[in-house]
Amino acid sequence: MVARSPPVPECRGDRLTADERLDRYVTELFAVEDPILAAIRARHAAENLPPINISADEGKLLHLLLLTVEATTVLEIGSLGGYSGVWLARALPSHGRLTTIEKDPRHAGLARRAFDEAGLSSRVRLIEGAALEVLPTLRPGFDAVFVDADKESLPQYFDWSMRLLRRGGLLLGDNSFFHGAAIDDNDRSPAALGVREFNRLAAADPRLVSTIVPVRDGLLVGLKVAE
Ligand code: DHB
Ligand code: MG
Repeated sequence: MVARSPPVPECRGDRLTADERLDRYVTELFAVEDPILAAIRARHAAENLPPINISADEGKLLHLLLLTVEATTVLEIGSLGGYSGVWLARALPSHGRLTTIEKDPRHAGLARRAFDEAGLSSRVRLIEGAALEVLPTLRPGFDAVFVDADKESLPQYFDWSMRLLRRGGLLLGDNSFFHGAAIDDNDRSPAALGVREFNRLAAADPRLVSTIVPVRDGLLVGLKVAE
């Protein structure tokens, strides 16, 4: 969760804000990493991957949301090093399939290793390439799409996600707040514009019932209720 409010009086003197302490409470109670997830996270740091992993509590929420729609086919746009993919793929039955797209070959290599170590390789198809080139090659009917890639292309990722999702499927989007840029109209960077447009499209689309859950940097959750 982003820090949205000053620390409450009883936490003065503590270095964590009230929101941060509540995040930690949720994580320690509901989203404890097993040794496999902890090792993946540690290796990402050691390999100097950008520190933009989802958090464990966000991973648990994604996992739970996939269970609610009994997902068997999930698409992830942006694998990074596979940490989020492990949370997603673990929600699938053994015959399920996570398709995850990653354009950076080094990240893709680490993601493959993560899926292998987690015993999930048979449930994961990692496609190396630029998402906008890969998406047109995929067959529609996904139970969920998790969008977690470059922000400037988000409006296009929105269109592709809606095309590829089945009715009753979930649209999930990381970084809906984008460190506050969602509410900073002065930020005209391509990434900030992409995030704001993605959020606006999701809010306005009559095929979706959606909202943003304020976990970490904001998770957009939408249910596709109509074709
Ligand atoms: C950033 C963070 C993310 O989680 C992501 O998916 C992409 C970019 C960032 O902070 O720039
Ligand atoms: Mg992200």
